[in-house]
Amino acid sequence: MIYAKSPDEIIGMRNACRLAAEVLNAVGKNIAVEITTKELEQIASKKLKVLGVKSAFLGYRGYPGILCISVNEVVIHGIPSRQKLKEGDIVGIDVGVKYNGFYGDTARTFPVGKISADAEKLLNVSEEALYNAIGSCKAGCRVGDISSAIQTTTEKNGFSVVRDFVGHGIGRNLHEDPQIPNYGKAGVGARIPENATLAIEVMINQGDWQVKTLSDKWTVETIDKKLSAHFEHTVLIKKEGAEILTKPE
Ligand code: MF3
Ligand code: CO
Ligand code: CO
Repeated sequence: MIYAKSPDEIIGMRNACRLAAEVLNAVGKNIAVEITTKELEQIASKKLKVLGVKSAFLGYRGYPGILCISVNEVVIHGIPSRQKLKEGDIVGIDVGVKYNGFYGDTARTFPVGKISADAEKLLNVSEEALYNAIGSCKAGCRVGDISSAIQTTTEKNGFSVVRDFVGHGIGRNLHEDPQIPNYGKAGVGARIPENATLAIEVMINQGDWQVKTLSDKWTVETIDKKLSAHFEHTVLIKKEGAEILTKPE
């Protein structure tokens, strides 16, 4: 059941999402060669305290971090650690917050120092796929319209979409209906009503689509060890289109 939010719920979502974007921004500004992913987590922890916001991830199904920090071949759900970022890495930061009973969820993959042209292309295509997906959707559209926009943009550029993980509805829960795959056909799937709120997540691999989960039960990596990128916005579905609620200022 895809739930249309009430005006009050939309206000709650706007607040949570703006705060999620602020946290992502604060972490993003501190990405640099030599910093550890645990140090980035500490920056998020301080920012959450200042904003009076809770992490949506910490403790979720036993997840041990505030953020998911996914370096290079890690697709999603990287656990903050003593790993140091190095020149040429790409690092995905996923921020989920809970504020006043509502969730906001947003992710972005950042370059560390100077990165290769191939890595740069992966980031650009992934972000473009997310924006095309957001642009493909308005009240009454179908889940497959979003999925198809992601897949088409990705494959046209020679990359592959992750199939084992999906975007999702979001609201008073981090994960609500519908599931939003990164692959699919336009015109197919559930209809999305006006005032639905969705976390659209693009997960794109440089090589093969296959991924595996490591023995820590969380970290998801590409099997071929090639790079992967993750971009996510929470959006509000309106009559004329989708509005990004986790917009960076
Ligand atoms: N990355 C997921 C999302 O954006 C949520 C992470 S769940 C966690 O929906 F437990 F790993 F934090
Ligand atoms: Co997320
Ligand atoms: Co999400």
